[in-house]
Amino acid sequence: MKIVMIGTGYVGLVSGACFADFGHQVVCVEKDAGKLSALGRGEIPIFEPDLDRLVETNVKAGRLTFTADLMDPVGEADAVFIAVGTPSRRGDGHADLSYVHVAAREIATALNGFTVVITKSTVPIGTGDDVERIIRETNPAADVVVASNPEFLREGAAIRDFKHPDRIVVGTDDERAQKVIDEIYRPLYLNQAPIMYTGRRTAELIKYAANAFLATKVTFINEIADLAEKTGADVQEVARGIGLDNRIGSKFLHAGPGFGGSCFPKDTRALVKTAQDYDVSLRIVEAVLAVNENRKRAMARKVSAALGGNLRGKTVAVLGLAFKPNTDDMREAPSIPLITALIDQGATVRAYDPESMQQARGELPDIQYCSDAYACAKGADALVIVTEWEQFRALDLKRLKAELKQPIVVDLRNIYRPDEMAAYGFTYDSVGRPQKS
Ligand SMILES: NC(=O)c1ccc[n+]([C@@H]2O[C@H](COP(=O)([O-])OP(=O)(O)OC[C@H]3O[C@@H](n4cnc5c(N)ncnc54)[C@H](O)[C@@H]3O)[C@@H](O)[C@H]2O)c1
Repeated sequence: MKIVMIGTGYVGLVSGACFADFGHQVVCVEKDAGKLSALGRGEIPIFEPDLDRLVETNVKAGRLTFTADLMDPVGEADAVFIAVGTPSRRGDGHADLSYVHVAAREIATALNGFTVVITKSTVPIGTGDDVERIIRETNPAADVVVASNPEFLREGAAIRDFKHPDRIVVGTDDERAQKVIDEIYRPLYLNQAPIMYTGRRTAELIKYAANAFLATKVTFINEIADLAEKTGADVQEVARGIGLDNRIGSKFLHAGPGFGGSCFPKDTRALVKTAQDYDVSLRIVEAVLAVNENRKRAMARKVSAALGGNLRGKTVAVLGLAFKPNTDDMREAPSIPLITALIDQGATVRAYDPESMQQARGELPDIQYCSDAYACAKGADALVIVTEWEQFRALDLKRLKAELKQPIVVDLRNIYRPDEMAAYGFTYDSVGRPQKS
């Protein structure tokens, strides 16, 4: 199949490289000149494990190319995927569809022969109708079907998720389009990944409902953690105790600093907005958003409390900035509101993250960036673990204690055991577990 991927972000680049790896001929179109020239030099503009090798192999094999000009590739394509960003629109929380609309217009002018245009970006219900209208208005003669194919990959495990999905959701009832999409995903179908055809609007809603459900699960366990903390129970055991029930499942039951990242916050906001437009109130999702928002401030209060309630003149070392491990993505990372609040309350903040410090500099210009975890801890009054990178799970605790001015650790990801930390002489606080010191 000849495939064009519009956008080479976390989704477009991974999807494009994986499709090429399946044996398809893929052209990735990117508007950002910096990203495009990096890709041309063989550099990957984002951090995603193993993506460099996958891209290199497929570029070398001649199956994967990059361009700024979609005209010829779209003209020759069997399928064109739209994988551009859909961030929150400033001011009202609706999804900003301007990139999708521009992409649709550009694609329309280049279409030639039967083509399936497939929206992979996360888009509100009815966006497929918009894309189709834009294409038909721009190029009335185009022989095109517009389908929806939401993406469920997770940053940090994106290639594995793309190649071994739990399911592939495709919104179209057009048989010609289904044939093309079946052929594109055939290698996965052979691997038993179920491909589920639905109406276009249903596919669009499936993506938002999935993200809202997962965000709800995280938020639920975070509230249970608050109760556990006040009552001397251990939220991790509670999570295990309920997660072993197959009806509940153990995933997304890790208490922490609240969800962030490039998807959950913006997608839950957009879902609530869409529902309001249709005069439906999604009160559970609204509550999830409000609870998660409050949690950001609560985490700063937790750090302040560990330091006796006054942060003025104190130095706080922060380990982990990215919204989760194995990515450099800083979009809506919980570290941002936390660090901002610490600075507001008079603290000096230093931080270390294995991959996201370059990205973080724009968002957090007023902190000191360190070369590793120990340099970060040096002379600090407290250490806060915000992202559970693998390398933070096995710190040399003796050395860490020696570097810190005061042996205070606030572990917002529960990666250490309270009894172990107490044995090393730390004053240790975590989320939803009995405190030991
Ligand atoms: N990041 C994730 O983990 C994830 C997972 C599932 C779904 N999604 C969804 O996928 C979509 C893309 O997300 P992302 O994180 O990859 O975004 P991103 O911002 O990292 O990448 C989007 C890319 O598209 C490019 N672009 C925009 N308009 C273009 C155009 N007209 N032509 C060519 N290139 C253009 C931008 O320059 C950018 O490089 C979003 O809707 C998101 O919600 C993301």
